[in-house]
Amino acid sequence: MTVIEINGLQKSYKTHRVLEDVTLKVEKGEIFGILGPNGAGKTTAVECMSGLRKPDGGTLRVLGLDPQTQRAELLQRIGTQLQEAALPDAIKVAEALRLYASFYDEPADWRALMDEWGLTEKRRARFGSLSGGWKQRLFIALALVGNPEVVFLDELTTGLDPAARRMTWGLIRDMRDRGVTVVLVTHFMDEAEALCDRIAIIDRGQVVHEGTPGELISKGHTNSLDDAYFALTERTVS
Ligand SMILES: Nc1ncnc2c1ncn2[C@@H]1O[C@H](COP(=O)(O)OP(=O)(O)OP(=O)(O)O)[C@@H](O)[C@H]1O
Ligand SMILES: [Mg+2]
Repeated sequence: MTVIEINGLQKSYKTHRVLEDVTLKVEKGEIFGILGPNGAGKTTAVECMSGLRKPDGGTLRVLGLDPQTQRAELLQRIGTQLQEAALPDAIKVAEALRLYASFYDEPADWRALMDEWGLTEKRRARFGSLSGGWKQRLFIALALVGNPEVVFLDELTTGLDPAARRMTWGLIRDMRDRGVTVVLVTHFMDEAEALCDRIAIIDRGQVVHEGTPGELISKGHTNSLDDAYFALTERTVS
């Protein structure tokens, strides 16, 4: 079953055309990676998919819904961890989870989630006092509190310590195994190779390569995704 279907997506900021023509499909229950250089338009594409930005052209369906006109329904069924998220400094960890749970008709057990993400010891800590990695863990837990069918994770493991990163990989696989579809934007090639079922490389607002990690590695005539990424994008990296 196709969960995300994007055709010819376009988006400009004023006169700056960021998404030129993004076309891709994400199937139910896969971990779909989006790779590409800084400024390629990855976050913009994810924001369009989660209804946070209005595309200028093309068609976009997530769980069969139009993120613009059916946003309220879509928000009940997706979870988003954004690259530049923020919460009020004074809010406590447990309060944030409880608050987010209240936004959903059928939330997950936020206390269990707090435990699963190792946040219980920080439950009374204020957001403003958390280190970058702890903030990141909280944002991941917040993305999952609505029991989402699709989760958008934008640079999820940036700032996490190695142990938290490995734990996160395990939890992403668990999510996928439970049938959740995961869209993962990452700059870590080891992470993409270890986790993703399929990958799209976006550059200058277009999907320039798409396939399983194995397919991209053969296409680049290399032995690792890291090398393949450079072989496949060297002409397009500015
Ligand atoms: N709100 C905005 N207003 C104007 N320009 C923006 C805005 N958001 C992003 N841009 C521009 O759009 C382009 C794509 O940005 P985007 O954040 O989608 O890239 P990205 O692929 O996520 O990059 P990164 O890997 O650095 O996160 C960049 O040139 C950026 O400066
Ligand atoms: Mg980004």
